[in-house]
Amino acid sequence: MKWNEIASNTDTTEALRLATSYVDGRKVFTTSFSPEDQIITHLLVQHKLDAQIVTLDTGRHFEQTYALHERTEKWLGIKIKAFFPDAKDIDALYAAQGVTGFYQSVANRHECCRVRKRVPLEKALSGAKLWITGLRADQSKFRKSMNMWEEDKVRGLTKYNPLFHWSDEKVQEYIQRCHVPVSELHSLGYASIGCAPCTRAVTAGEHPRAGRWWWETSKKECGLHLASI
Ligand code: ADX
Ligand code: SF4
Repeated sequence: MKWNEIASNTDTTEALRLATSYVDGRKVFTTSFSPEDQIITHLLVQHKLDAQIVTLDTGRHFEQTYALHERTEKWLGIKIKAFFPDAKDIDALYAAQGVTGFYQSVANRHECCRVRKRVPLEKALSGAKLWITGLRADQSKFRKSMNMWEEDKVRGLTKYNPLFHWSDEKVQEYIQRCHVPVSELHSLGYASIGCAPCTRAVTAGEHPRAGRWWWETSKKECGLHLASI
């Protein structure tokens, strides 16, 4: 049976256990401290599964995201390593487009995401054989076209989205039941949370990702999940 079938027909904890013990080499879980990511962190730590938990610090996060990073470390008694952009890339970015150039064009925005997210991601995944993320199919039409388990030939690793088939209700139920800490921004109307200047709260009935890069009409992705740089 293929991994997608095995993972789809197995309990999430068991599938995570299988994946982290089956894949040989470095395993990395990238967390943005979203509710989905908090659940995966909880599962990995609670079941002592072998994967390094890391985050990509773009330098432009909400203060609530930094607070949640700290709170999560205290909650589970762990350290979550942050990967940062290169200072020389930030210099070049500011020289080319100023402090908030990402509002001016999609190309500028992609360059900022490349420097602040995609380059740190490549550092975080260096030498990794398994990359675990909190992506869910329900999050967007584009994400529905993805798989729970994907081979990334460019990076030479397997990408695994353990909550791929989870519904929003299932995520919320786990958060409540296990008292998982989540961002204080959710109670202020923020649904999907990224960098502060590129995220706004959504109103009732709006798509949860409508608050990400809200001034753009193009695909609402930063490129982390498109291809390697
Ligand atoms: S994004 O591409 O729009 O920013 P999203 O916020 O939905 O992604 O998160 C999807 C997954 O991408 C997360 O579960 C996490 O694995 C990864 N991710 C996104 N942003 C970060 C970040 N700043 N640090 C670490 N992982 C991240
Ligand atoms: Fe830059 Fe906005 Fe992308 Fe963050 S989300 S890296 S601030 S363009």
